[in-house]
Amino acid sequence: MTATTPITTPFTAQSTAAEVVDGIDLTGRRVIVTGGASGIGIETARTLAGAGAEVTLAVRNLEAGERTAEDIIAATGNKQVLVALLDLSDQASVAAFTAAWDGPLHILINNAGVMASPETRTSEGWELQFATNHLGHFALATGLHRALAAAGGARVVALSSSAHLRSPVVFEDIHFRNRAYEPWLAYGQSKTANVLFAVKANRLWASDGITVNAVHPGGIRTNLQRHVAQEDLDRMIAQSGIAANLAWKTPEQGAATSVLVATSPLLEGVGGRYFEDCNEAEPNQAGARRGVAAYALDPEAATRLWQVSVETLAS
Ligand SMILES: NC(=O)c1ccc[n+]([C@@H]2O[C@H](COP(=O)([O-])OP(=O)(O)OC[C@H]3O[C@@H](n4cnc5c(N)ncnc54)[C@H](OP(=O)(O)O)[C@@H]3O)[C@@H](O)[C@H]2O)c1
Repeated sequence: MTATTPITTPFTAQSTAAEVVDGIDLTGRRVIVTGGASGIGIETARTLAGAGAEVTLAVRNLEAGERTAEDIIAATGNKQVLVALLDLSDQASVAAFTAAWDGPLHILINNAGVMASPETRTSEGWELQFATNHLGHFALATGLHRALAAAGGARVVALSSSAHLRSPVVFEDIHFRNRAYEPWLAYGQSKTANVLFAVKANRLWASDGITVNAVHPGGIRTNLQRHVAQEDLDRMIAQSGIAANLAWKTPEQGAATSVLVATSPLLEGVGGRYFEDCNEAEPNQAGARRGVAAYALDPEAATRLWQVSVETLAS
């Protein structure tokens, strides 16, 4: 990794998605937001539709998707808000989604995710968080590669998390077959995988004009915390050293970094990086809960993960 000065923008942790997209016209652009019917995904989709884009909510719950699409259409007046079925933990569902996609894709937001779930395995025996957060999105993005290349200047955003600091990808035992399952380590591993995906995809797809970045949206109260007890959340906030009233962003602030990375002319041609609070992250300092881990940007680990992902999906 070469040491470079992190990219900064005029935006901050308090900026909202509407503020970062102000003045940007996305008419004629086609967008997919996975998990677009909950939490940060709703605000991301609403903002991009508000800027004129055609937005497809890729969701596993079609009813929730239809309700969200109606709300967004009513709020923005943009009728081009579509809903499509996508279950990222089911490779047949991902394959059906990519096969049905027609035409160019300008922006792919790999937003859906599951956090700290009890030990669960897919039908293939894959650990659920890695399977959903990484492998599902890996299959989706690679399946849509041609559509992204056809757009000319497409951008892919991978939602990672500061929780990536909890674990590198443990290549020796990704699926917790030989070690005790620990929900936060599994989540952290999957979120590191999201960053490594951005590093490798950005390099592989540069010649197609596609840029790929990872983001940490901040801490936002959403359905993501469904598997975490309130007392555990309170303890984590207390340990973070951040005042409780400042610990959480609003969903509008949470969507800002994704929307910035997906649309801002300030980031034209920028890829393979990790952003938080609307700016490229500094390297993590030991003990801090900010910044990006060196292992998440490691090009060798990124290449290894890419190979492992291809092999896993082919197995
Ligand atoms: N909120 C935070 O504090 C925070 C912090 C750091 C990173 N993030 C990241 O931000 C992203 C969005 O999180 P959020 O806070 O908005 O959470 P959320 O409200 O729980 O939304 C997550 C979305 O992912 C969907 N999803 C889960 N498993 C899926 C699957 N197998 N196939 C398709 N969709 C699936 C969920 O669908 P259902 O509604 O059907 O369950 C939901 O729509 C996640 O990647 C998360 O890791 C969030």
